[in-house]
Formats: sequence, C-alpha cells, structure tokens
Amino acid sequence: MTKRRVVDVLNGERQFPPPIWMMRQAGRYLPEYRAAREKAGSFLDLCYTPDFAVEVTLQPIRRFGFDAAILFSDILVVPHALGRNLRFEEGRGPILDPIDPDGVGRLKTEGFHDHLEPVYETVRRLRGALPTETTLIGFCGAPWTVATYMIAGHGTPDQAPARLFAYRFPEAMEQLLMILADQSAAYLKRQIAAGADVVQIFDSWAGVLDEASFEAFCVAPMRRIVEDVRKSYPRVPIIGFPRGAGSLYGGFREKAGVTALGLDWSVPLTQAADLQGAGAVQGNLDPLRLVAGGKALDEGVDAILGVLGQGPLVFNLGHGITPETPIAHVERMIERIRKAGAA
Ligand code: CP3
Repeated sequence: MTKRRVVDVLNGERQFPPPIWMMRQAGRYLPEYRAAREKAGSFLDLCYTPDFAVEVTLQPIRRFGFDAAILFSDILVVPHALGRNLRFEEGRGPILDPIDPDGVGRLKTEGFHDHLEPVYETVRRLRGALPTETTLIGFCGAPWTVATYMIAGHGTPDQAPARLFAYRFPEAMEQLLMILADQSAAYLKRQIAAGADVVQIFDSWAGVLDEASFEAFCVAPMRRIVEDVRKSYPRVPIIGFPRGAGSLYGGFREKAGVTALGLDWSVPLTQAADLQGAGAVQGNLDPLRLVAGGKALDEGVDAILGVLGQGPLVFNLGHGITPETPIAHVERMIERIRKAGAA
C-alpha cells in the first residue's frame, strides 16, 4: 500500500468507492481554464509555460478533489519536438504539415529533451504543489495515434490518410512508429524522473484498425514503449488506452504489457468485468451522460459501480470531457460515487 489510492488500485488493490479522475479534466468546461488560456495567449503557450501548465493542472483538483491530476500538455508536443510544425486553430484543433515518406527519415531527435524541458519542469513543480495523496499522471500519445495527425496534418473521422500511408509505404510507417515509440519512451522516463507516479498511453484511434494492423501499429509499438520504460522503472503503473478496440481489448493487457486498461464507453460492462479479472480497469462513463445529467448520468454511474465497483476500478469517463459539460453534473457524479461508498 502507498499513500496514493490511484497507484494502489492500478496495481490491483480493490477499493470501494473507486478513486476518480476524468480524461481532459483541465479544459474548456471550466471558467478558470478559459481565463488562464486567454492570459497565456495560445494553447501551445499554455502547454510550454510551466506557470500556466501547473495552474491549469491544479484547477480541477482544487475544485473537485479528484484522486489524480494529469499533467497538462498535449500528445502532439512529441512531433513538435521532432521538428514538425504544429499549431492549434480555434474551432479546428491541431494543424501540422503532413509528413511524406521521405520526411520520416528527416525527423530530428537532437534537441528533443531541450524542447520538452518546460514539460519536465511542470511535472517537477506539480509534484511539489499537489496534495500528498493525489496521484500525478504523466502521459504520451501512442505512436499510431500521433502518426495519424502527423500524416493527415489534422484530425479526420476515420484516419484514412494514415491507413493508406501504412498500406502504401509499409517501411516508412514502420520507421515512423519505431521513432515515435523510442522518443515517447524517453519522454515518459523523463516525466517519471521528474515526479510522475503513473503514465498513460493514449491510443485514441486504435478503433479504426483491422486485426492485423491493430497488432502491428497499436500493440507492437505500445509494447516497445512499455518494455523500454520498465527497464528503468519496473514498478510504475502504465495505463494503456486503445480506444475503440472492441473485441481486441481481449488479450491487449498481456500483449502490450500494460498494468491497467483504459476502457471506452462502448465496452460492455460484462466484457469489462472479464477484463478486470486480470487486473485494474479504468473507465468508462459516456461523456454525454455527463453532459445530459439527471437520470442518464445517475444510471450510467450506477451501472458501472454495480458491475465493476468492487474493483480494481479507477472511475473515469470513456473519453475526454466535452466543453459543454455543466460543472454541476461533474459535482453530482463525484458525489454519487463517493456516497455509494458510504452506504
Ligand atoms: O486530460 C487532461 O486534462 C490533460 C491534458 C490533455 C490535453 N490533450 C489537453 C487539450 C491530454 C491528455 C490530451 C491528449 C490528446 N490530445 C489526445 C488523446 C486523448 C483524446 O482526447 O483522444 C489527442 C488525440 C490530442 C490531440 C488534440 N489536442 C486534439 C484533437 C485537440 C482538439 C480537440 C479539442 O478538444 O479542441 C487538442 C486540443 C486540446 N488538448 C485541448 C485541451 C484542453 C483544447 C484546446 C483549447 O483549450 O482550445
């Protein structure tokens, strides 16, 4: 047992009520986030200025007392640190210059950690600023998901550009995923050295892959990161989040070597309970139940607690909280989970 509940649960301890945090818990649904964002100027300034990044990471902890804080940054700082152009446009999300197969060989790894030093400084300051019992989560994007943005240059509904790139240029794809895996592992190790207790690997676009591609582009690169991190930090819990993996969630924990599984809301609770037999799961409330509130929210929370509540469970959403979510609904969700424990 440690002093941090999320760490203990990820390591397989059963705790009721489950500890809670939310993906994207620092974000536009909070007025104090919007104020900091305005002051910082741009989203990337927010990410790369430790004073601001620390402040917005702490905001949801102060307001709601979540059991974990997640470093405020973005998965796309990794391609940015590899020399790719990156900007965030209001209402459009991230924009990069699309990479072609020749560009993969020109990615530059020198200066990588210098570029990311503000992120490491943010983590160091956070560990000092957070309550002792609050787990600090570091993160990176999985190579496949980061590659989808590098290849298309922006978000797409089905990642067709990245899938086509992979089929047409298998060698360039392999090289890109390996570079991203090795740099991401180095990035996570620095976050852990700076004070992160746990790391999460976000594969938000795992769900668009066929079975063979899922093995090659999602499982294998994630395993490479996990093995690398474990050589230096064998006891730090690693959460893998292959969003949309469906039936391919079965066996994923073992194949990728992750400690815990992040589940999206489409994973049936019966399947989630099976997956929980092998270790901790995290999830998986539909974020739109949180937007709607009322009965839709209460029923969603109760269903998860009813089937997975005895643990090991880290209560979370099945994907990020959306900007239109009322703060009162977040309070209601937390109260319902914590009250269930008192009953
Ligand atoms: O969870 C947290 O509070 C930590 C911070 C965090 C952000 N992005 C901040 C952010 C984390 C963990 C991420 C991960 C991330 N970023 C993922 C994986 C998780 C997921 O949501 O699928 C992805 C795919 C990205 C790339 C990205 N960043 C997109 C597609 C967008 C635009 C969508 C949007 O919501 O605007 C972003 C921008 C972004 N990253 C915002 C935040 C708070 C909103 C930017 C703003 O303030 O204007």
